Amino acid sequence: MLWLSSLCVLLGTIFFLRILSSLHRTLKIRSAIKKLPCPPGVHWLAGHQKQSPFSPGMQWQRDTVAAFPRAYTLWRGFIPIPVLVHPDTIKPLVVNPTGSVKSSFYKLFWDWLGEGLGTSLDNTKWKRNRRLLTSSFHLDILRTYVPIYNDCIEVLMGKLDQLAAEGKPMKTDHEFGLCTFDAILRTACSYQSNCQLEKRHKPEDLDILTATEILIRTVQERKTGNPLLVIPWLFRLSSLYPEWRRACQYVHRIADELIKKRKKEISEKAESKDPPVSPRDFLDTLILARDTDGSGLTVKEMTDEVNTFLFAGHETTATAMTWILYNLAKYPEHQSKVREEVDKILENRDTDRITSKDLNQLEYLSLVIKETFRMYSAVLLSRTLTAPLNVDGVTLLPGTLVAFNIYQLHHNPTVWGDDHMEFKPSRFLPENFAKIDPFGYLPFSAGPRNCIGQHFAHNQVKVMAARILRRFHLSLVEGEPEPLPNLNIALKPLHEILIRIKPRD
Ligand code: HEM
Repeated sequence: MLWLSSLCVLLGTIFFLRILSSLHRTLKIRSAIKKLPCPPGVHWLAGHQKQSPFSPGMQWQRDTVAAFPRAYTLWRGFIPIPVLVHPDTIKPLVVNPTGSVKSSFYKLFWDWLGEGLGTSLDNTKWKRNRRLLTSSFHLDILRTYVPIYNDCIEVLMGKLDQLAAEGKPMKTDHEFGLCTFDAILRTACSYQSNCQLEKRHKPEDLDILTATEILIRTVQERKTGNPLLVIPWLFRLSSLYPEWRRACQYVHRIADELIKKRKKEISEKAESKDPPVSPRDFLDTLILARDTDGSGLTVKEMTDEVNTFLFAGHETTATAMTWILYNLAKYPEHQSKVREEVDKILENRDTDRITSKDLNQLEYLSLVIKETFRMYSAVLLSRTLTAPLNVDGVTLLPGTLVAFNIYQLHHNPTVWGDDHMEFKPSRFLPENFAKIDPFGYLPFSAGPRNCIGQHFAHNQVKVMAARILRRFHLSLVEGEPEPLPNLNIALKPLHEILIRIKPRD
């Protein structure tokens, strides 16, 4: 009996010492963070929450970066988070392995995306999967996708013809959401769905857009809304949970079916003694990928990656297209310049299809796209430090959750000037852009955890915008309010933007 009580005392002491050491570490981390400047008005319990730092319109974000142009502390409840907003402070975080481990915020995605490339906190696993999947985004492969983008936008333009004939405006986010989902299914999974034309049977039925919207809204609410919802068991008890579960099941079913079908095709092919299969798309790459020891991805790992790419590959590009079309409709002078460029490229051709060779010639469109990416970019990305990080003389300790705010970087007056709210594609002319720090413009983040799909996205938005301008004139619907950018993982408009479309002669 004596040995049992001695063991209990020993275990109790170890447990107590561990709690003490973790408390000590937390206090050290907090006291380092507190040395950074802090926007005023912090409530002892709610932090900056009462000032609605993420409210639609992003005014707080712009005011704060104007006042604190390098780094500041954002209080999320009683937890301080250092936020970096200047190229000098962001660069050391993103380029070094110090900042390649994502923060625990990304766990909020796990029920939905698992530990796929974008949300994995395990760096060994992330590195291996990134290496395996990078080949699917080789420029030669991306070139073969250009005809597919043309096919997808063709379907959308058929719908726009109809809307124009009826005198109705286009609902940008909705239409682009379906079109980009169609494109990622056709390119990454060689799967031709009818998602752009399918109708929902009943309003309560889910489709990919409503399911994704529920998932995004829920993650956002947990991340920047009610801080208590970060706690998993409280979230499970909340009213958000049943909808979240239903939406997760909906999107998981799509991924599961795609993988199951493809695995069957591959094994049938192997049995039929056809020549060995070489990967033809992302889905093949996932299934056929092998490490040096011959082991492949588990079914769970494949599912996580398919869910990640189906989401990351359509949602961000659709949002980007929405803002690109909005800017083209709002600024007719830029619209005309892009149209002239497209007309010139397509002159003397009997088709309006854009080829991969045309993409580099769409130079003015490129400037418009880059300026749109600057104005409406991702907002808070975060990492957990694996080594000390010096921020303006303050040493942040390993284990600190550090955020960098791309929206604030792109609206930092010390980087982009006081006219950062003006839409000026000329900022990206080589002679002007050369004056901007390379880490002043990060729509796709930077360093090892940058966006794997950035060239995919660039090509796709170019094809879509060029094809639409070739066929239609765009204008804003009179009387509609100025759209407010609203944080929903990506920076989406608070309300659907309506664009009036008029066929050219
Ligand atoms: C305009 C469109 C897009 C924008 C603005 C965008 C932006 C970003 C950003 C800012 C990140 C870093 C996220 C973070 O650190 O948390 C990221 C990561 C990622 N993006 Fe994109 N993205 C776009 C399109 C795409 C497309 C088309 C795909 C796939 C086909 C894609 C796949 C991914 C993946 C898998 C990651 C995680 C990479 C990693 O951690 O290794 N993205 N993207």
